[in-house]
Amino acid sequence: MKFVPRKFVEKQTKEIAEILGDHRALVAVSGGVDSVTCAALTHRAIGENLLCVMLDDAFMREGEPERITSLVSRPPLRLPMKTLNVQEQFLEALEGLKDAEAKRKAFRETFYNTLRETAKEESCQFLVQGTIAADIVETTRGVKTQHNVLAQMGINPIERYGFQVIEPLASIYKGQVRKIARYLGVPSEISERQPFPGPGLSVRIVGEIKADKLETLKKATVIAEEEIAKNPPSQFFVVVIENAERPRYSKLVDLSKTIGGILNVPSDYISVEVFQDKATGVKRGKRLYGDILAIKAEDENGHILITPVETLVGLQDRIVEENPLFARVLYMIKEIGKKQAYSIVVRAVETIDFLTASVADVSWTSLEKIADRILNSCPMVSGVYYDVTPKPPATIEFE
Ligand code: XMP
Repeated sequence: MKFVPRKFVEKQTKEIAEILGDHRALVAVSGGVDSVTCAALTHRAIGENLLCVMLDDAFMREGEPERITSLVSRPPLRLPMKTLNVQEQFLEALEGLKDAEAKRKAFRETFYNTLRETAKEESCQFLVQGTIAADIVETTRGVKTQHNVLAQMGINPIERYGFQVIEPLASIYKGQVRKIARYLGVPSEISERQPFPGPGLSVRIVGEIKADKLETLKKATVIAEEEIAKNPPSQFFVVVIENAERPRYSKLVDLSKTIGGILNVPSDYISVEVFQDKATGVKRGKRLYGDILAIKAEDENGHILITPVETLVGLQDRIVEENPLFARVLYMIKEIGKKQAYSIVVRAVETIDFLTASVADVSWTSLEKIADRILNSCPMVSGVYYDVTPKPPATIEFE
């Protein structure tokens, strides 16, 4: 059946108005297409009884809270916005955590506790949120804890947080949300925006969150977005990872031989390492918190071997097939001589439904330009990699 935005909007507006009656409602607006569309729909339904909050949680991109707040407060949306600086609460809640799911759960708890306090102060009995079908599918399948999925995980929001949750977008996917956003007049900067996870940059800091790691990621994100925006794939971003290696990993010598064979260079020109920190993957529909393999291949002059993305994806296929513990394969684009604390990984994928994705064929020239700029601007970074793993077996985000 053809999806008609007008009909969807009319039906949902009516339903929201009926459920909420004269009650006040809260929407947490992050600037993503889902939350803004949800807020615009709710605004249509209940007008001034809506309050939108932007949680400035320390994990948004450079200048993002201010930019989004100003954009959605202006016509045509005119959303009633309030910004809350809650950076300290979030940094404290995630401090010392390394495991991806532990971080996601701590983020979720802090997110809803903050909303509970705000809802109480502002006398809002309802929280309207932009959970979409894909969020629910992935969380209930156990791939990862999306921060906004509650009831489906057995969490009763009224008992735990004191408000009732309404999810007008829960039956639709991203493409349909974008259609509704356009219909509602949401500015294209938001309606066409790339997905940005609810827990923001916290899921792009692989492993432990540290102040200098977060600052490095923010800088590298600005650079990658400027460079790839000229020719954007469905989704792209960078992550930061600590340059700590897992000791005594077996089979690495054999792997160098296999890789050398596929890339047609002697195995002496190949270096492989397994990072200490892990990343989320999905194999046969189930979550795998797997290992990250980093490959560096050089030519006889010691320059990084320029290899077509297609070849690298084929190489990754074979490695992951033969070594079930790996969830990601990274390929070195550029490095500086002296090892620093962090590496940056560029992730770029093509996808329609975000449930599966292929590795984007970003040109080597673009990858090198991004790597050069990051290495020049981020003194704590010594290497930049390209992630050559599709989904599955990796997820799009690292955590
Ligand atoms: P994964 O990493 O699961 O990502 O392959 C699929 C899509 O979902 C986005 N994503 C999220 N969006 N809250 C969100 O609103 C989250 O917690 C979250 N985690 C992942 C991701 O960016 C990709 O587009």
